[in-house]
Amino acid sequence: MTAAGLAGLGFAGASFLDPSGPRAGATHNAAMGSSYLWVKAFHIVFIAAWFAGLFYLPRIFVNLAMVAPDSHAERERLLLMARKLYRFSNILMVVALALGLVLWLGYGVGLGAGNGWMHAKLVLVLATIGYQELCRRRLRDFEGMANRHSHRWYRVFNEVTVLLFAAIVVLVVVKPF
Ligand code: HEM
Repeated sequence: MTAAGLAGLGFAGASFLDPSGPRAGATHNAAMGSSYLWVKAFHIVFIAAWFAGLFYLPRIFVNLAMVAPDSHAERERLLLMARKLYRFSNILMVVALALGLVLWLGYGVGLGAGNGWMHAKLVLVLATIGYQELCRRRLRDFEGMANRHSHRWYRVFNEVTVLLFAAIVVLVVVKPF
């Protein structure tokens, strides 16, 4: 069946089938086929992996902030772990966000007016990217022996991602507005 035929049967949102492009405010439906679900599955997989990095990186900072000034080997080992984790998290973030953009702009889910949940989600996504940038700066501080924060501060800092993660998941699943 053609995209026009599917649209005629009421299957809105078939943006990858429909030459007229994404439909504003589409939700998942049969016309999107299984490709939409595959993209969404891998969006969730890469989001989970990215956030695993965002949960663990500040834990390394907690340990770095507790290292005794004369424990050079321990400090270097933790710094190496933090650098590798930060770089890997960056790659995971790019893939996760790219897949999210495909769902949004490619399939048209959450696109356009009347999708407050998506707009709120995008604000929180920007906040999460900002958090990752803060992690990069704190890492540079540790590398330059210029850290100004206590391990308690990093424990609280660590909780920010939990709140961001919970809020974003509620927005995409419950879609409260
Ligand atoms: C550029 C950033 C992002 C865009 C454009 C985006 C877009 C989307 C879209 C359009 C959907 C499909 C919603 C549906 O099928 O109802 C989705 C699903 C989802 N997104 Fe994102 N997303 C982004 C980032 C994130 C982030 C940072 C998280 C972190 C928690 C996240 C978590 C999820 C989850 C858990 C789902 C599955 C929801 C469900 O199936 O009910 N996304 N995303």
